[in-house]
Amino acid sequence: MTNELTLDKKADTRRLDEMAQGLLGTPMDRPEGVLKVTGKAIYADEERPSNLAYGYLVRATGPIGRIVSTNKDEIAKMPGVVAVIEEADLPRNSVQGATPTAAPTRGDRIDYIGQPLALVVADGFEEARHAAQAMTAVMEADTGLHFDPEAPGASIETPEAKQASQGDLDAAMASAAFTLDEEYHTSSMHSAAMEPHATIAEWKDGKLTMRGAYQMLKFNQKSVSDALDLDLSQIRLLSPFVGGGFGSKLGIAPEAIAAALASKAVGRPVSVAMHRRQVFETTTHRSATKQKVRLAADKDGKLIGVGHDNLVYNLPGEKFSEPTTQATPFTYAGENRVIGHHIARLHRPAAGSVRAPGEAVGATVFEMAMDEMAEKLDLDPIEFRVRNIPDLDPSKGIPFSENRMEAVLRDGAERFGWKHTKPKQRLEDGWWIGTGVAAAVRVNMMSETSARVRLTQDGAVVETDMTDIGTGTYAILTQVAGELLGLPANRVETRLGDSDFPKAFGSGGSVGASSSGTAVYLACMELRQNIAAALGVEETDLTLKDGRAISGNVAKPLTEIVPGEGWSATGTVKGGKAGSLVRQATWGSCFAEVAVNAVTGETRVRRMLGSFAAGRILNEKTAKSQCIGGMTWGLGMALHEELVHDPRDGHMVNRDLAEYHVPANLDVPQIEAHLLMEDRDDWANPVQAKGIGELGISGTGAAVINAIYNACGVRIRSLPGTLDKIL
Ligand code: MOS
Repeated sequence: MTNELTLDKKADTRRLDEMAQGLLGTPMDRPEGVLKVTGKAIYADEERPSNLAYGYLVRATGPIGRIVSTNKDEIAKMPGVVAVIEEADLPRNSVQGATPTAAPTRGDRIDYIGQPLALVVADGFEEARHAAQAMTAVMEADTGLHFDPEAPGASIETPEAKQASQGDLDAAMASAAFTLDEEYHTSSMHSAAMEPHATIAEWKDGKLTMRGAYQMLKFNQKSVSDALDLDLSQIRLLSPFVGGGFGSKLGIAPEAIAAALASKAVGRPVSVAMHRRQVFETTTHRSATKQKVRLAADKDGKLIGVGHDNLVYNLPGEKFSEPTTQATPFTYAGENRVIGHHIARLHRPAAGSVRAPGEAVGATVFEMAMDEMAEKLDLDPIEFRVRNIPDLDPSKGIPFSENRMEAVLRDGAERFGWKHTKPKQRLEDGWWIGTGVAAAVRVNMMSETSARVRLTQDGAVVETDMTDIGTGTYAILTQVAGELLGLPANRVETRLGDSDFPKAFGSGGSVGASSSGTAVYLACMELRQNIAAALGVEETDLTLKDGRAISGNVAKPLTEIVPGEGWSATGTVKGGKAGSLVRQATWGSCFAEVAVNAVTGETRVRRMLGSFAAGRILNEKTAKSQCIGGMTWGLGMALHEELVHDPRDGHMVNRDLAEYHVPANLDVPQIEAHLLMEDRDDWANPVQAKGIGELGISGTGAAVINAIYNACGVRIRSLPGTLDKIL
């Protein structure tokens, strides 16, 4: 049985609020948590099938250009070496950017330093590594390449579809009572997921099984099929546990295709695990941005003009580019608007999607500019923002499904104890103390997703190829099914990360919880119909709780209703017109208190507090964890993270976690995240839930930068805000 829903209008159900189990929304522990903390959860490179061979990727060291020849034949004779899979067999740029459907192409080119040139396969890992390090290539170097967006002659594209303009911003700037016109920079950043990318591929009887770390199995399976010219039915991907992705595992990475090719070539299972430096170079990092913000306000602090122009970089031909201005069209009022988007084509490692592509850097910079503008207006920055919450989406003229900007700003302000002050007011023991605020905003999306639920006398089993990349999918899908079927959590089993299960969109774009949650909801609604029919009552009169069905005077355990073979239902949700009829977004506020050392310029964040609204919260604990994680990323963007490229050849200089600084425990104070638990968005889906995974990074870092200004009176316009920019 199937239950399909296309989201074309406001959802007409409040059924979840009528359910009786009391499981949904609770801060339930992750059902897989014990497996994880006891080391029993099997991650990408933890199985050791018999006869396993080891593959090690060869790094192109430069120059960039065409591969003329390699010493493959010598390498193949080295001890333990089983095969050398050459560059020509490997996918080009299978670092996917945000286009996980793009097939890897092949060729004989090296486009960036660090790109995989070959895979050496050997009986042992050390033998493979040793031989890989001895492999060399004769290259025909390209000329006229560019590595730095600011260098003269760099090729800069201005795609017409990505420019937007309405009214007359120049005239608004000329006539406005208050204006701001500033340039900001954000650094290249890396997703730096804890678990490095790895795959064990096994080719057997014309079928390929790959166990790896992937975010979106449906698209990843397609990429493998394109790269190896196989039928989808010949490929099975397994990714039950993923140690973080943040975009870097959206598309298939080079190690996966290399492992698949190698296994097919040598007829053995092959493990390919990338080391940290390979992960940095060959998987997604976020482009640096240069952003020019223009704001025009009338004497009452109402914005009449908004300009947001940005320059990002990517390899020639890459479809993706950081959508920096994604939230700018609708976050604040202003009838005169210009949005500009420019892409420098550089031979740096490919940039792609990293957590909240767009808003993470775009909203953060915009929130820094809003703080500067509030100061010019002599307004509390919260007041300034609230005054500029638009009634309608100011770019499209459509209503918001709901706008919780003011609610999260007020809620956060009260919890934090916000008081607007002038800068440089508190010097304590040699530290300037200051506070800052920023809003967070992230677009909300839904994508086609299916899930199957089987109800037997033992309980329910949820199956979908959706992944849990640390986000809490196992918990929330268990809760949705348990709530609708009236089962306690221990009678629901959620199985994920197997491409043989019904296809989900996957973990990307913060669509996972809302899309997969809705698919499970739809399947369960179908099963409720079965139960009601068996009892001879209407589904709407049915109460399910603790394994019992109750309707009027009738009460019966499900074990007596459900047939021995059980019932199975598949739910499918499709994103429809609803997304274009109303503007859907998620909202947050973030407050920070910092101390800036008056002598060294060092910044210490003392506390951070956020308030967030994302429709119905499916699990209070995992949703909060997402927000706390996002705010930690915001803190890292504000103070630490800076990926450096050599301007001479584009190579990534600090390509490991020793040199690329992410916040460590001592950098992160107790961070509090609060959720507007009563929030519901009827336009989102029948579950009334929106995505929350990427909201916490989408602007929050600006609270730290704004707090630094409030502490010591220094405006930082280039991230990260290291001490040299303060002194
Ligand atoms: Mo996300 S960058 O869509 O994993």
